[in-house]
Amino acid sequence: MGKITKALKKATEDRLGRIEKITKIKERDQLIVKKIGESEIDPNIVSYFDPKALISEQYKILRTNILSMNKGRPPRTLVITSSIHSEGKTVTSLNLAFSLAQAVHKPRVLLVDADMRKGKVSRYLGVDNKEGLSEVLSGQRKASETLFHIADQPNLTFMDSGSVPENPSELLSSNEMKEFITEMESNYDHILIDTPPIISVTDSGIVGAMVDGVIMVIQAGRTQRGIVKRAEELLFQAHSKVLGHVLTNIEYHLPEYIYRYL
Ligand SMILES: Nc1ncnc2c1ncn2[C@@H]1O[C@H](COP(=O)(O)OP(=O)(O)OP(=O)(O)O)[C@@H](O)[C@H]1O
Ligand SMILES: [Mg+2]
Repeated sequence: MGKITKALKKATEDRLGRIEKITKIKERDQLIVKKIGESEIDPNIVSYFDPKALISEQYKILRTNILSMNKGRPPRTLVITSSIHSEGKTVTSLNLAFSLAQAVHKPRVLLVDADMRKGKVSRYLGVDNKEGLSEVLSGQRKASETLFHIADQPNLTFMDSGSVPENPSELLSSNEMKEFITEMESNYDHILIDTPPIISVTDSGIVGAMVDGVIMVIQAGRTQRGIVKRAEELLFQAHSKVLGHVLTNIEYHLPEYIYRYL
């Protein structure tokens, strides 16, 4: 695992260095398999609308990288975080969740919104905010009472962040949170946990220490290296293990002939 983390870090460094050179390619309309107008789900969730699109392929690569970690015993519980706000954590969590759920063996996937301050998973899915993690951790609801699905992806389950509590960090560091994760592990093959940014609040470090590892989302062209380094130090101090990095806001330049075969 140590070697993989090092390799992923090196790859991220290399890619950060190349970003300036990369320019955008237009997605082809004929690849769209679900019309966005038919759903309330946000168009950013491209793995739902268009699993064959170039961007969806990137989420599939992320899925493959995760599933091939640790010699056939891949991490099952993952926290998704970033250094600062709006780097693409929730969009990444949702796309990865759909991508995992679409795998051939149809694994049972759970996406938990643990951003109890301003959770947006439900909003991206176009559903009204629901009771969720804060009610579960404060003992007002059983987990099973708050889980929900969207119609055409029955093996993908969601839990909202719930109402904004007074003490999100305390709720997340509670025994109830550990017990919740253990209970979910017996029901799901993969559990993704979307969290707030680590530089702002400790939440992702707290939950990161309870799971197999943390995926760091980095918005290319905005978040400075020093900030990412500080974020990783904070996660390390919280005993969270960073397994890999996802760069968002990258534009692709691929020659037309390569694109045809993707
Ligand atoms: N891979 C990506 N490439 C380009 N833009 C992206 C990508 N992923 C997300 N975004 C854009 O970044 C913005 C923020 O996305 P998102 O809500 O996922 O961020 P976040 O890190 O969860 O924010 P917050 O800190 O508020 O929870 C959105 O407008 C989204 O369109
Ligand atoms: Mg978010």
